Amino acid sequence: TVGPQATLYVTNEFIAPDGFRRSASLINGVFPAPIISAKKGDNFKLNVSNLLSDSTMLRSTSIHWHGILQRGTNWADGPVGISQCPISPNHSFLYDFKATEAGTFWYHSHYGTQYCDGMRGALVVYDPDDPQRMLYDVDDETTILTLGDWYHYPSPSLETFPQADATLINGKGRYPKGELADLSIINVDYGKRYRLRIVSIACDASFTFSIDNHPLTVIEADGESVVPVQGIDALRVFAGQRYSVVLVANRPVDNYWIRAMPSVEDDEDPLGTYEGGLNSAILRYRGAKDLEPKTKLTQDIVLRETQLHALINPEAPGRPTQDGGDKNLHFAITYNEKTEMFAINGKSFEPPKVPVLLQLLTGTRPEELLPKDSIITLPRNKSISISILPGDFDAPHPFHLHGHSFSVVRSANTPEDPTPRYNYLNPVRRDTVNLGDEDSGSNVTIRFRTDNPGPWIFHCHIDWHLERGMAIVFAEDPEETRNLTHPPEQWHYLCPTFDNLPESL
Ligand code: C2O
Ligand code: CU
Repeated sequence: TVGPQATLYVTNEFIAPDGFRRSASLINGVFPAPIISAKKGDNFKLNVSNLLSDSTMLRSTSIHWHGILQRGTNWADGPVGISQCPISPNHSFLYDFKATEAGTFWYHSHYGTQYCDGMRGALVVYDPDDPQRMLYDVDDETTILTLGDWYHYPSPSLETFPQADATLINGKGRYPKGELADLSIINVDYGKRYRLRIVSIACDASFTFSIDNHPLTVIEADGESVVPVQGIDALRVFAGQRYSVVLVANRPVDNYWIRAMPSVEDDEDPLGTYEGGLNSAILRYRGAKDLEPKTKLTQDIVLRETQLHALINPEAPGRPTQDGGDKNLHFAITYNEKTEMFAINGKSFEPPKVPVLLQLLTGTRPEELLPKDSIITLPRNKSISISILPGDFDAPHPFHLHGHSFSVVRSANTPEDPTPRYNYLNPVRRDTVNLGDEDSGSNVTIRFRTDNPGPWIFHCHIDWHLERGMAIVFAEDPEETRNLTHPPEQWHYLCPTFDNLPESL
């Protein structure tokens, strides 16, 4: 664990988290990256020192602090081509921003598919006055479970849509034909209550998360409190999403499997495949033997997607908003099999050479921003409504918006639950929402207020999809962006084009 002010060293190391050795791109030499732990109101000063040396992977870098709103500090948001140029090898860059919100976040490289090679970890902002804490009075709120998919070869060498080789919980797991590598162990005391922070650091996979014999209470989604939902047997966590759940350790003292079953493309892997410990971690009560659990996945485990759809924002809303946003956007996603590219409203996203923020700061007019047709200018202080149709590509698409949480006013229906779900009164707020599953073809509608000037990327968090163009950028209040965002001197030097910039900068 590191505090809010730290240097993060990015290096290449050989690791074998699931028993298979490969070169990885790591932060402070570990996978997952160290937990960054801060308190609400803290100043983050995170100095990223790029010491990458392995040319089979990307050697420049950049880090995004997923879920942090970056009010007034858009330049510190991280995505290459949007808010900065990459940090080249043997250079460092200081990200300086504020922890304005408490909650469960994460951080990862936002350069190409680099985070799939290892640069991803949890970031938690604690709040001593957290209302959930008072509601639940948990005995411990520090347990973090990162769920990640893991690949045996560097991302640039993988096929377009690769299958992961293993699932790692807190960086440990076993690939199907591998040795019995160590598993992560979560120790609990009988009779105590624990807030577990479940953080998907996946590049692709969604996970069905459960703990044998322990129903859970959901209290947080993506850094936002929710009205507690009790009795959850299992929850599906998509790439980039987080949940906090309360676990009551009131079962017989023993070992229990903590499961994160990955989505599998061909559906031929029945749940049973993962019995016996594959892709799992261990919940161990104090006093239990140092053995692997013998608990079984019960067949009547219920994936209560409907209950998760019904997640509710506990803070009463100002007013119902079914009248529509001030601005209504409709996005349709398409996939071109020849080019293997995705497009939003016909346009595939490719990061521009000059970051959108730099274009804005050097006086480019909003309608001339590059990449053309991938940038939507949004006016200040308006309610923006976005409806997205997932198209027919056979996969989920968890969409993430930078710089905002949004309200999910219409959530996806699923094959099991075909009724559309609307909530205009007290919809859950979050920062990553999954579009409808393969067969349902339903659209999802989100809303947010343009109260945070800056260019913000909106993209599918399956990194292989982002790489293939599934993104769009909102230039939120370009004028205020110029007035409010003052990157430090050092930021300008990240861009090789700096020499050609006008004096005025
Ligand atoms: Cu978690 Cu654009 O990122
Ligand atoms: Cu996608």
